[in-house]
Amino acid sequence: MSDVDLRVDLGGIALRNPVLTASGTFGYGTEFAPFLDLRRLGGIVTKSLTLEPRGGNLPPRIAETRGGMLNAIGLENVGVEAFLREKLPALHADVVVVASVFGTEIEHYAEVARRLSASERVAGLEVNASCPHVKSGGIEFGQNPNLLAELVRAVRRASTRPLLVKLSPNVTSIAEMARVCEGEGADALSLINTLQALDVDIETRRPVLHNVLGGLSGPAILPIALRMVWQASRAVAIPICGIGGIGTAEDAIKFLICGATAVQVGTASYLNPMAAGEVADGIAEYARRHGLTRIADLVGTLELPR
Ligand SMILES: Cc1cc2nc3c(=O)[nH]c(=O)nc-3n(C[C@H](O)[C@H](O)[C@H](O)COP(=O)(O)O)c2cc1C
Repeated sequence: MSDVDLRVDLGGIALRNPVLTASGTFGYGTEFAPFLDLRRLGGIVTKSLTLEPRGGNLPPRIAETRGGMLNAIGLENVGVEAFLREKLPALHADVVVVASVFGTEIEHYAEVARRLSASERVAGLEVNASCPHVKSGGIEFGQNPNLLAELVRAVRRASTRPLLVKLSPNVTSIAEMARVCEGEGADALSLINTLQALDVDIETRRPVLHNVLGGLSGPAILPIALRMVWQASRAVAIPICGIGGIGTAEDAIKFLICGATAVQVGTASYLNPMAAGEVADGIAEYARRHGLTRIADLVGTLELPR
């Protein structure tokens, strides 16, 4: 039992500590259960779920880069029905499950949200806004304020569950996108998703990924994510879940100080499947060392130069 109160409220989702795992990097949770008691975490965010199962992109879909990794998985997943039937019941009842929602059409997002909301086991929804909208020529939902507003409005109408919107960092103004989501009734924001990137094999002169472009994640993106979390936290009143390159408690604490109420551990779980649990333990230790009785008191305490 910890003497520090690690509990936080993420837009209506009560978390026992501020550490979750990031969508797409932790499977459906069950894959990691042999390495880590998932009840040590604030919660887990599932892979993004679509109406129908998806096979994803052709390989190579993952490549290591300096300080990070590139991926173009293509949002492979079992589909919402198989998730509800097979994956969700396999998780311990005490694990807080946030389900990531995804689709190529707004109506698909809304339908996935509706079906997930029918399950008592789903504590909240996270809308992955980094999907290309086919009807708009492939621009991501999260890159256009009007499209983003339409998406959040539709999912908001489809569900009364706590609604997190996961923002794309591939935008000029993250503050503008954050305000759009708040205005449409989002309960919290998650940021950031991966940064669009490219790497090349100079011997073959080919892109390292079959998809050519991929999403950059890992330590390389941490300072960018931190900047965006800070800017978003100043733009909106709803809580923020910080994501991007977090692998240690020190990384996570930076996000809390910059205004994140909670954090998600992504790529780091590939290197160390216990990473998220260690981050949670390290946050408690930091709080103790700094005489904090409630971790929530650390949120948004960045000292700015006068
Ligand atoms: C292999 C891989 C798959 C991912 N799949 C998803 C996904 O299905 N949905 C989503 O919202 N984000 C997905 N992401 C993005 C992560 O959730 C996270 O936002 C991003 O990787 C930045 O955090 P990190 O640097 O800690 O990995 C994926 C990332 C990786 C590396």
